[in-house]
Amino acid sequence: MTISTKPLSSALGAQIHGLDPARLDEADRMRLREAFLEYGVLLAKGLSTMTPEQHIALSRVFGECAIHPIPTIRLKGHPEIIVLAAELADALPADDPNGDELVGQIPWHSDLTYTDSPSRGSLLIARVVPPELGMTGYIDTAAVYDALPPDLRARIEGRQAIHSLGPIQDALRSAARADDEMEGGEAPAFEQVAHPLVHVHPESGRKVLNVSPAFVQSIEGLPEKESRALLDELIAFATQDRFVYLHRWDVGDLVIWDNSRTMHLATGHKRRHARRMHRTTLAPGRVPSELAA
Ligand code: OGA
Ligand code: MN
Repeated sequence: MTISTKPLSSALGAQIHGLDPARLDEADRMRLREAFLEYGVLLAKGLSTMTPEQHIALSRVFGECAIHPIPTIRLKGHPEIIVLAAELADALPADDPNGDELVGQIPWHSDLTYTDSPSRGSLLIARVVPPELGMTGYIDTAAVYDALPPDLRARIEGRQAIHSLGPIQDALRSAARADDEMEGGEAPAFEQVAHPLVHVHPESGRKVLNVSPAFVQSIEGLPEKESRALLDELIAFATQDRFVYLHRWDVGDLVIWDNSRTMHLATGHKRRHARRMHRTTLAPGRVPSELAA
């Protein structure tokens, strides 16, 4: 099989063609890793027949699979996969205006920055998509760092930021309600953690703005007002339209992202419509090098 890539949008990413998860050879694995590191976000279409086993095997091309720390949303029988599915309006009559309520919104973030093991990347496949909305936005945070005005760069260099799950926990619960496909049980509590506001990408050595707006709470060592103002300024800069690629999903679309240099958001969708996504989580660490593969 031969995998090829073509740029996805002016902001970031590539679409990959010729990916068959059932028949991956060593050349494909190498090409996938190269593309992951080059583009940060990869889209492959037409993968609705990919099984959970193949999803996990494909994820392992890029590193180890982590088990998501929130057990409630793990796929039964495949703990490497989580299910994202917002609450449905099953009980509502079709014309009930509450069906228009937006559910499943998740603000800009990089995955698991509220833990001390932020995810290296994710592979997210659409199993059920709503007829409208339900998009996912992506931003290349290495490109954002490169574009930062020098004074803003100087103000964040060497600083640590505090992240936690706290304030958006309820929103996340609505984005990922536990149901029959998932393990269920109790969600754990998470402590606050600190991460550098600028980190160095493990393979490219590029500097990356590591702000994860949904989870970042404050900047260490700054008075609260100043910390909030600086975070707001950084977030406003980073989320300008020119940096954003907004993906409209078809069933069977798979998006693979490098969490070390991107952030993403879920726009949400109407409560009356179903949306169901399966995701693997890559453990922190380096993408396997070609030689070691
Ligand atoms: C994720 C995520 C957004 C979406 O899978 O990590 O944030 O649109 N998904 O489903
Ligand atoms: Mn996410």
